Amino acid sequence: MRIYLLGFMGSGKSHWGKIWAKVHQLEFIDLDKEIEHACGLLIPDIFEKKGEDFFRDMEARMLRATAANDDCIISCGGGAPCFAGNMEWMNANGHTIFLEAPPVYLFENIKKETGTRPLINHMNEAELLFFIEQKLKERMPFYRQAKTTAPAKELTEESFEKIIQQITS
Ligand code: S3P
Repeated sequence: MRIYLLGFMGSGKSHWGKIWAKVHQLEFIDLDKEIEHACGLLIPDIFEKKGEDFFRDMEARMLRATAANDDCIISCGGGAPCFAGNMEWMNANGHTIFLEAPPVYLFENIKKETGTRPLINHMNEAELLFFIEQKLKERMPFYRQAKTTAPAKELTEESFEKIIQQITS
């Protein structure tokens, strides 16, 4: 079983990924951390020093490297499904779960962490909310291709069991 968690920044991919992986004895992989490890740089520094195109290229490569792992939950960066044919690739190589959340929910979760996220760095709150609304609309056609969609606001430890039952039935 190889599960890809997808969704906008602040939708809870890493949070729930870690919890669900622990409960189900699956390996947890954070794609951004894999990229940081491979580059020897933090995500903001990769964007600043090498640019977004380089980051997206690394993201696509590290994503494909996850095919070497079985029985794992992979938390993907918010943009991962939207570049380099990644969405098709994930659907062909695992089960994709989109954590869906409304803009205000995402805003509340990321407004204090803009410094660690290069796409929203230096934005004030009004700019951030506008950005989330626009970007989410743009990304939705990709997120919608996920095999399962789960409402981020209602997730619990048990939610994953239900999803697994759906996948395996
Ligand atoms: C990005 C989301 C980030 C990270 C990078 C780009 C995006 O991951 O991959 O800053 O394009 O939405 P999180 O969704 O884990 O914050």
